[in-house]
Amino acid sequence: MDDQASSRAVPTEVVLRRARQSDLKTMCAIERASFPTPWSERLIAGELRQPDATYLVATLDDEVVGFIGLWHVLDDGHICTLAVDPQHRRRGLGELLVLAAMRQALEIGADVVHLEYRVGNEAAARLYDKLGFERVGVRERYYSDTGEDAVLARIDGITTAEGRARLDQAWERWLAERGMTVVAQ
Ligand SMILES: CC(C)(COP(=O)(O)OP(=O)(O)OC[C@H]1O[C@@H](n2cnc3c(N)ncnc32)[C@H](O)[C@@H]1OP(=O)(O)O)[C@@H](O)C(=O)NCCC(=O)NCCS
Repeated sequence: MDDQASSRAVPTEVVLRRARQSDLKTMCAIERASFPTPWSERLIAGELRQPDATYLVATLDDEVVGFIGLWHVLDDGHICTLAVDPQHRRRGLGELLVLAAMRQALEIGADVVHLEYRVGNEAAARLYDKLGFERVGVRERYYSDTGEDAVLARIDGITTAEGRARLDQAWERWLAERGMTVVAQ
């Protein structure tokens, strides 16, 4: 492999931007690869049009490799979905998307971000624990497809000086640990 080919093989830049309708097909493919009961293309298309939601994608070499959705619920943010292409997992992209969603929550003035995940979802549990989300409850049999319980988790005080500093530190730590540059568009 020549130098050019090897540098293409491992992208060193990740772009974060708002999801567009033209991303739908790729988002749906990632959705299908990530969830036992994936959202339909129609549902995701509707989500992208919602004024009270922000959907962000992460791209590598112009290819969408992950996305996150944040609903703006009154003064709170709610992470309603998060998925990374299985071929690009364990490289920090899920973590980066959550950090980007938290920055977005900060921008809309949300002091709290909450979410839920399947009780058996070890990757999600570890990811949210790592970022300081606190487990605050369990909703029994929340997922009707499998009957699994949902873990409810939240992070408070993100608009406070301490919250902002924590978020900045997590972002800086991510850049230092992953050795990638992030372009936020
Ligand atoms: C959950 C998910 C988004 C994580 O994405 P990812 O890009 O692989 O995660 P990251 O590489 O950013 O991992 C960040 C941290 O999360 C934890 N983590 C992620 N995947 C993990 C796994 N398979 N096992 C254990 N811990 C894991 C680790 O703490 C990791 O930090 P580390 O790299 O320092 O160990 C991805 O596994 C996914 O798309 N799963 C299917 C959909 C889903 O479950 N979405 C979340 C519920 S809404």
